[in-house]
Amino acid sequence: MDVMSEANRRESAGEDIIHMEVGQPATPAPRAARERVAQAMAGENLGYTMSLGLPELRERIAAYVKQRYGVGVGPDRVIVTAGSSAGFVLAFLAILDHGDGFGLPSPGYPCYRQILKALGFRAHLIETTAEGRWMPTPADVDALVGSDAAGLLLASPNNPTGTMATGARLKELAEACTRQGLWLISDEIYHGLEYVVAAETALAYSDTAIVVNSFSKYFSMTGWRVGWLIVPEVLTRTIERLSQNLYIAPPTVSQVAALGAFDGIDELEEIKRFYARNRALLLNELPQAGFPNILPADGAFYLYADIRHLTDDSAAFAQAMLREIGVAATPGIDFDPERGRSYLRLSYAGAEREIREAAMRIAAWLKRR
Ligand SMILES: Cc1ncc(COP(=O)(O)O)c(C=O)c1O
Repeated sequence: MDVMSEANRRESAGEDIIHMEVGQPATPAPRAARERVAQAMAGENLGYTMSLGLPELRERIAAYVKQRYGVGVGPDRVIVTAGSSAGFVLAFLAILDHGDGFGLPSPGYPCYRQILKALGFRAHLIETTAEGRWMPTPADVDALVGSDAAGLLLASPNNPTGTMATGARLKELAEACTRQGLWLISDEIYHGLEYVVAAETALAYSDTAIVVNSFSKYFSMTGWRVGWLIVPEVLTRTIERLSQNLYIAPPTVSQVAALGAFDGIDELEEIKRFYARNRALLLNELPQAGFPNILPADGAFYLYADIRHLTDDSAAFAQAMLREIGVAATPGIDFDPERGRSYLRLSYAGAEREIREAAMRIAAWLKRR
């Protein structure tokens, strides 16, 4: 966020900035979503909905899960949330007791640990490795037993690395959690944005997994603040009471937009094709430009570059890159407080022309450094 505000400040002052720090699509919500909202604005009341969300949307999400993964979940297990961010708050509050911890693979999305901390819970960091494609192992799950951690949070595709738990890994992790009596929270917010193999849902391997998802990324609707949870039935009532008290209901206008978004899949697939082109371009250009150590990420719209041959202070490096060539990227310390000093996250959700230009600027900059 600091890099983003500095990048925006420089842009307002007239500098030509390329934004590779932002974790959001450059595209608006799909046309079908915006049309649905326009229709609703013309005459609907748009008052509070049920705190679990519009029944029609909960049904539509359950149908999407069935169609996408072949897994049947009843709409009573689907909870519409104010972005997946609210979903994490609800899930943690529903399953944890004061002082409990939760297993978080590192590097990972920083808000998990900040939300846990703010709620009086503890982040139990699990170091993953590039060789293991930044994914936890069943042994990591076993190692949580006897610790303060009540479960594992898995994000696949992961932010910042874009890597996934592919093949048998997801099944093994889900089974290990069940065997050990641990919760599994599966952050599936980047599902839909996979480029190598299709992402599977944790629901395929666990009846007790809590799935967190959102309209922010694949559906290109970050600002609408709408997401969803799929929870075991036993948690629905608790979460209903929590959401009712915390924020009454997710924004109605955004839920209406979300309903429309399901009719915009062709448009979203087109956007995904342009991410795929950006990904291929960067995986080709960046190694030659001077970032040779990048895992070919499986999904999302991020690459996580190992820059230890260039710096052990990724924040200073990101600042210099922004100041000297106008390319904004996120220092790895946001995602991994220690090892992140030698990593940089680059988002390729921007326009292809800009991504190409960024690769050229980085190459020329590293040559003269
Ligand atoms: C891995 C991951 N999970 C969750 C979120 C939160 O997204 P939202 O609250 O917009 O659904 C983000 C946002 O960048 C993310 O990267």
